[in-house]
Amino acid sequence: MIPAADLHTAAERFGTPLYVYDAAELDAALARVRAAFGAARVFYAMKANPNLGLLRRLAQSGVGAECVSPGEIARAEKVGLTGEKVIVNGPAKSAAEYAAGARLGATFIVDRAEEVGRLPPASRALVRVNPALEVSTHDHLATGAAGSKFGVTLAQAPAVLDALRAAGHTALGLHVHIGSAVRDAHDFTAAFGRLTGLRARTGPLAVLDAGGGWGLDADLPGIAREAHAAAAAFGAELWVEPGRYLVARSGTLLTRVVGTKRTGRDFVLVDAGMTELLRPMLYGAAHPVTPLWTAEPGGVWDLAGPACESGDLLAQGVALPTPAPGDLLAVGEAGAYGAGMSSNYLTRPRPAEALYEAGGWRLVRRRETPEDVWRAEEDNAE
Ligand code: LLP
Repeated sequence: MIPAADLHTAAERFGTPLYVYDAAELDAALARVRAAFGAARVFYAMKANPNLGLLRRLAQSGVGAECVSPGEIARAEKVGLTGEKVIVNGPAKSAAEYAAGARLGATFIVDRAEEVGRLPPASRALVRVNPALEVSTHDHLATGAAGSKFGVTLAQAPAVLDALRAAGHTALGLHVHIGSAVRDAHDFTAAFGRLTGLRARTGPLAVLDAGGGWGLDADLPGIAREAHAAAAAFGAELWVEPGRYLVARSGTLLTRVVGTKRTGRDFVLVDAGMTELLRPMLYGAAHPVTPLWTAEPGGVWDLAGPACESGDLLAQGVALPTPAPGDLLAVGEAGAYGAGMSSNYLTRPRPAEALYEAGGWRLVRRRETPEDVWRAEEDNAE
């Protein structure tokens, strides 16, 4: 936990809205993953937070990267990740992604049978399987339901492995990712069970990639046990691809009170909103809010951002001490899918990001300026 005094220092030094990350919590999350998953290979799903400061720290701790765009592949290379440390995934990979992945010697996740013919020659590949399961998460975050756009069906998977071999690729094994922020460990058990049901048709495999998707309160040892059992059924090495679990708790969004307004509903207006943290608006996500000031109890409030949209709410029904302009709020569990999903809507420059390590602050992304936002336009467009 970053001491409140240091959060105040960061807000004063770098301004708000501001993303801050606690390096000790990042390291602790990785230690929890390693403790639960033992010898499994860990690939960080950098979509959760692509900041080079965090990515470099994870890479230096021995973690690989799961990439889903040419830009993410370039980030992996920038922090020194190549070859077996890089996985290239995605349902609609571009020619640029195949080329960039091949240049790094990455492993490709095949998401549909037609991809076999598009892979660079002699690629290492896994086949993503859709286990056709409803899981315990928000609809937008479920990826393994029947009819989702991801993976091949259970019935198709053995033939796609054969097609890879016939085309001269190395068919390493199978991949499954059932969704994100999945609460119930039994969902993973069910998914892995459907994969092991394929064992008689696939024969032994070198790798089973069990994806990520673990909710922050998920039973990690339980999921790990099931994943290892599934890998063992194939005689395979276990790979995992956590995103949220590694970075969510290390991150906090700092925002200041602009003022209050009572319209029949009580609002605290703050300087961050949907452009900085979209998750509450997009998924109804509840992020814990901590007031960093002291005053007498001051009622229950909805936190609204500066955007001209009624849905621009950071949190609802939050009990706060009496707020005054300039008071500082910490929005927690914001290290995953926070900064990475921030936008320039309304020509709002993206916030700065700072890493707290060994009791001090290091800026890992400077605050954008309006010029940064329009740099690619008009005279610079060609
Ligand atoms: N592997 C694959 C193939 C994935 O698609 C994802 C996430 C992960 C790993 C990492 O999942 P995690 O461990 O982070 O749950 N924007 C949403 C989350 C979308 C996740 C997409 N795929 C949110 O803010 O909750």
